[in-house]
Amino acid sequence: MQRIIVAVDGFSSCGKSTIAKQLAQHANYTYIDTGAMYRAVGLWARRHGYIVNGIVDEDSVKENIKDLKLHFERLADGSQHIFIDKEDVEHIIRSLSASNDASLVSTLPFVRQRMVAMQQQMGADKGIVMDGRDIGTVVFPHAELKLFVTASPEVRAKRRYQELISKGEQTNYQNVLQAIEERDYRDTHRKESPLVQAPDAILIDNSDMTREQQNMKVLELFNQALLLTEQENRQE
Ligand code: DC
Repeated sequence: MQRIIVAVDGFSSCGKSTIAKQLAQHANYTYIDTGAMYRAVGLWARRHGYIVNGIVDEDSVKENIKDLKLHFERLADGSQHIFIDKEDVEHIIRSLSASNDASLVSTLPFVRQRMVAMQQQMGADKGIVMDGRDIGTVVFPHAELKLFVTASPEVRAKRRYQELISKGEQTNYQNVLQAIEERDYRDTHRKESPLVQAPDAILIDNSDMTREQQNMKVLELFNQALLLTEQENRQE
């Protein structure tokens, strides 16, 4: 059976991971949340004192990142968690402050090179759905299916605000909106692998889409990409 690589890129809190997880489950593919990897790097950096008052000590991160051991584990309930050494940090990395730390370390070229190499290794056998910012442009520029997901900042802030409140975090909508706008700016303006839509990626703006409409669209695109790949392979 033909297996392909699906790259799902886009802005923060736009539903990328929901799309990627559901598609991976449908296709029985591996799902990789690359944002979790940058979040774990951010957490590790903060815990070691390499991030203080929003400033990253780049030299220390560069010198010590070789000691950071990250891996994913699939738990009994089917969910994928990220670990630093033997510690499950999946929940700790989801806070607003962890998002900001992730955004800071993700601008460092040596951090990105290390993460990209790990991600390419994970997708070496195909059959993978990976979500992030640079998957279709840098990690897998030859992915058979590339999706670029977006929604308006206000819609994303509303969704993220509700998610944080339901987890018991103290925050308000304006703070969340501001954090999203700042992260969008950093993600799209950084020197190293800025967030851009790959020319061959398919745009999905879900501001006014229901979950169901989005799922249908994604499944349709996946089936088309699979068929096309099978046809191309037959012709070779
Ligand atoms: O998708 P997320 O919000 O969990 O991502 C956390 C941060 O990591 C975000 O600021 C963007 C960055 N990131 C990145 O630079 N490249 C990726 N492939 C994934 C995430």
